[in-house]
Amino acid sequence: MSASSLIDLKSLTAGALSRIFALSKEVSQQSLKSGRQIRGTAALVFLEPSTRTRMSFEFACAREGVVPVTLSGEAGSSLEKGETIHDTLTNIDAMSPDLMIVRCGDSVDLAEIAKSLHAPVINAGWGKSGHPTQALLDALTILEKRGRLEATRVLLVGDVRHSRVAASHFELSQKLGYQIAVAGPLEFLPTLPAGVISFATLEEGLQWADVVMALRVQKERHGPGTAVTDFHQRWGLSPRVLNHFKKDGLVMHPGPVNWDVELSTEVLQDPRTVILDQVTHGVFLRQALIRWVLEGGQ
Ligand code: NCD
Repeated sequence: MSASSLIDLKSLTAGALSRIFALSKEVSQQSLKSGRQIRGTAALVFLEPSTRTRMSFEFACAREGVVPVTLSGEAGSSLEKGETIHDTLTNIDAMSPDLMIVRCGDSVDLAEIAKSLHAPVINAGWGKSGHPTQALLDALTILEKRGRLEATRVLLVGDVRHSRVAASHFELSQKLGYQIAVAGPLEFLPTLPAGVISFATLEEGLQWADVVMALRVQKERHGPGTAVTDFHQRWGLSPRVLNHFKKDGLVMHPGPVNWDVELSTEVLQDPRTVILDQVTHGVFLRQALIRWVLEGGQ
């Protein structure tokens, strides 16, 4: 595996993390039209649905002078003829991209495949295993808005068990020293890592938190029999329940939002809501990551 692959956050050193955040700061202060020379090519292989992550990587590539070449979905590709994902990635790697950005399901062992590829691989959402760039962009947004991450109390609400965003936050919080707690229906809570607390009600969690991150109810990953009724009543964020949350807190969601499930539509008007700032910071973070990869991942 290339030294600058990013499959999970456990292997990222403190030095690499501070370099990525420093590059993100540099990116955010530069003009969006820096008119760079072409510096390379990136293969984007997205085998699960995506709007934000795929386009965010495409914008990031364009702004960094890296030409994105995208395979979006199985339709029209040789996967429809029965070619395996491993063979697909190996063949794309043989076209010598400077990096590969991959979104795939749990049936693929992305970490294992990345070991056999020449190009660095960035995980753009791998089944329920992790979504490192989403956790990094969330952390960058919190850092920008609050000035620090250490000891920040982040409450994850809802479908924690099926969320790869939550899985990556469990890893990143260990590295960056923010605290995580969860609140949600028992069916949606995983076995919690050491040190992660769970609140029986949303109100109690909100009283504890500096940041509340609602997670999408991941219907496509639920097994038969997973049915949570009255989710919005008990676990949805609304102006009523946000009365229990601090005035200078942050309300986040990785998107896409199921309106009136995780969030009521009025929440978008709440000045504490930073959902679109997360999207903006996503491009900065991914530009930074592309720079970091092109400089060899040091
Ligand atoms: C997330 C994902 O795909 O895991 N979305 C995203 O990348 N912005 C969250 C989700 O789908 O719920």
